[in-house]
Amino acid sequence: MSIQLSIRDLSKRYKTGEGVSGISLDVNKGELITLLGPSGCGKTTVLRSIGGFLEPDSGDILIEGRSVVKLPPEKRPTSMVFQGYNLWPHMTIFDNLAFGLKIRKMPKAEIRKAVEEVLNLVRLPGAEKKYPGQLSGGQQQRIAVARSLLLKPAVLLLDEPFSALDAKLRHEMREELREIQTETGLTMVFVTHDQEEALSLSDRIVVMNHGHIEQIAAPQDIYDAPETLYVAEFIGKMNFLKGGAQEDKLVMGRMEFPNAKRLSGEVVVAVRPEDIILEPGTRQEAGLPGTIKQMMILGHYAEVSVDLGDRGIIRAFQPRDKVKELHLGQSVNAAFTKVIAYSNN
Ligand SMILES: Nc1ncnc2c1ncn2[C@@H]1O[C@H](COP(=O)(O)OP(=O)(O)O)[C@@H](O)[C@H]1O
Ligand SMILES: [Mg+2]
Repeated sequence: MSIQLSIRDLSKRYKTGEGVSGISLDVNKGELITLLGPSGCGKTTVLRSIGGFLEPDSGDILIEGRSVVKLPPEKRPTSMVFQGYNLWPHMTIFDNLAFGLKIRKMPKAEIRKAVEEVLNLVRLPGAEKKYPGQLSGGQQQRIAVARSLLLKPAVLLLDEPFSALDAKLRHEMREELREIQTETGLTMVFVTHDQEEALSLSDRIVVMNHGHIEQIAAPQDIYDAPETLYVAEFIGKMNFLKGGAQEDKLVMGRMEFPNAKRLSGEVVVAVRPEDIILEPGTRQEAGLPGTIKQMMILGHYAEVSVDLGDRGIIRAFQPRDKVKELHLGQSVNAAFTKVIAYSNN
């Protein structure tokens, strides 16, 4: 696999001291990589640096092996899709789409063909004569994506492109973007603060925190093995408890787990709600004793809150059948099938 985009030790600090530093990242050709993190963590700063809208303080950005940091946006082989669609309201969809190609002096017949093809790709065939105001928000964003696709960038940059759309439409647009990527083989850098969007869309996710990268991994690995406590807290639902590490073992009450990271002393143990098994009674050999505080039936499963006394309250997801055996105030045993441990400092 060849590397399409390489970011090397990128730093950008605004006068306020905010910004990003030490950002290094290689994106493979045809890969969809997502920058994920809460608002203000520096996602847009990285994306705008790639697109040439911001000048970094230090570091390098290479696209297809060539440094682009000295080039203005229009000279870079990138194209950016913004959150606001930035379509010209007084121009037809055809003219909005053809604009960039006319500047490139593409022959008229070719432009017509390219616009027709890209409108098919974004599922708006025949929209040439319409005006942006006649389209819904989702349709306008499709046109904005189409406009970027037409420029055949080496890297397509998308900054929270779907965040203004409602949940159902956002869902559809995700699937469509995935299909477009499969069909075109385009390399994409996608920015979002929505972890579900990132998990469902990406080949790999870059989790950012306060201007630096916490972890880069495939969605499943980010979920199964968050490398830092920050990622564990940010991605999915997680319970955190105190435990102790003794040589090759992690110990929590009557439970023991392998101490893969060779931690020592007091540790933070993280367990996903779906990795907890609740059994009525407290006489089991392993597990932590607790009392059921709350049960919420959520269709095919239930979210059960269990009070573990000094250890706090944990949330467990239980299958529908299991919940029939459980009731409020009941004494239960909570056993963990899988945990991840973190150093406590
Ligand atoms: N032009 C600017 N001048 C000063 N500070 C800025 C500027 N742009 C962004 N910031 C600050 O830099 C940090 C990162 O911003 P940004 O990259 O926009 O984050 P994100 O896209 O993840 O929300 C934030 O604290 C933001 O307030
Ligand atoms: Mg942003």
